[in-house]
Amino acid sequence: MSSPLKVLAFAGSLRKASFNRKLLAVAAQAAQEEGAEVRLIDLNSYALPIYNGDIEDAGMPENVRKLQDLMREHDALMIVSPEYNGSLTAAVKNTLDWISRPQADGSSGGALFKGKRAVILSASPGAAGGLRGLIVLRDALAKLGLWVAPSQFALGQANEAFSDNGQLKDSKTLERVKGVIREFLNG
Ligand SMILES: Cc1cc2nc3c(=O)[nH]c(=O)nc-3n(C[C@H](O)[C@H](O)[C@H](O)COP(=O)(O)O)c2cc1C
Repeated sequence: MSSPLKVLAFAGSLRKASFNRKLLAVAAQAAQEEGAEVRLIDLNSYALPIYNGDIEDAGMPENVRKLQDLMREHDALMIVSPEYNGSLTAAVKNTLDWISRPQADGSSGGALFKGKRAVILSASPGAAGGLRGLIVLRDALAKLGLWVAPSQFALGQANEAFSDNGQLKDSKTLERVKGVIREFLNG
C-alpha cells in the first residue's frame, strides 16, 4: 500500500469565526476520509511581518523556518481562502513569499513547493463565493511550481451555509467539496 499523501492545510483568513476556516475543516475531514494525512495549521500561530528584506537580512523570523520545515515535511497544500477585492489575501501571499526565501542551509525556499500538489477552495457571503480570488491564488501557486487540482470550489452565501456544529447544511454542497478533494488526491 502506498503511503498516505501528507497535506498541509490552512485558511487564508486570520479571523476566528472565519467561514473559510469552517470550510477548511470540512475539506480536511473529507481528505482524511479519503486516506490523506492532514496537518491543519492556523496562520495566527505563525505570525509574520509583511515581507521586508531588511528583516530577513537581520535574521530570518523563527516562524519562517517553522513554516519551511512544515512545507518540507508535506507533499501537498490545501488552502481555503476568502478573496479580498477579487484577489488573494495578504496573509496567504505573505506566507507563501516568506516560505519561498532561502532555507537555513542556503538552499532554495522555492524548491519546497516544486512538484507538490495543491487544492484551493474559498468561501464568501457573496454569491460568487470568492471565485475571483481562486483564479489569482491558482496562478500564484502555479508560479511556485505546484500542481493545482483543476477542480476547485467556491462557497457562496457562506454566512448561511454552516450549522452550529460547523457542518455544511446542504448535502449536495458537501458532495461537491468531496468531489474536489477526491480529484486532488487521485488526479
Ligand atoms: C478587505 C476586504 C475585501 C473583500 N473583498 C471581497 C471580494 O472581493 N469578494 C467577496 O466575495 N468578498 C469580499 N470581502 C468579504 C469577505 O468575503 C468576507 O469578509 C468573508 O467573511 C471573509 O472570509 P472569512 O469569513 O473566512 O474571514 C472582502 C472583505 C475584506 C475585509
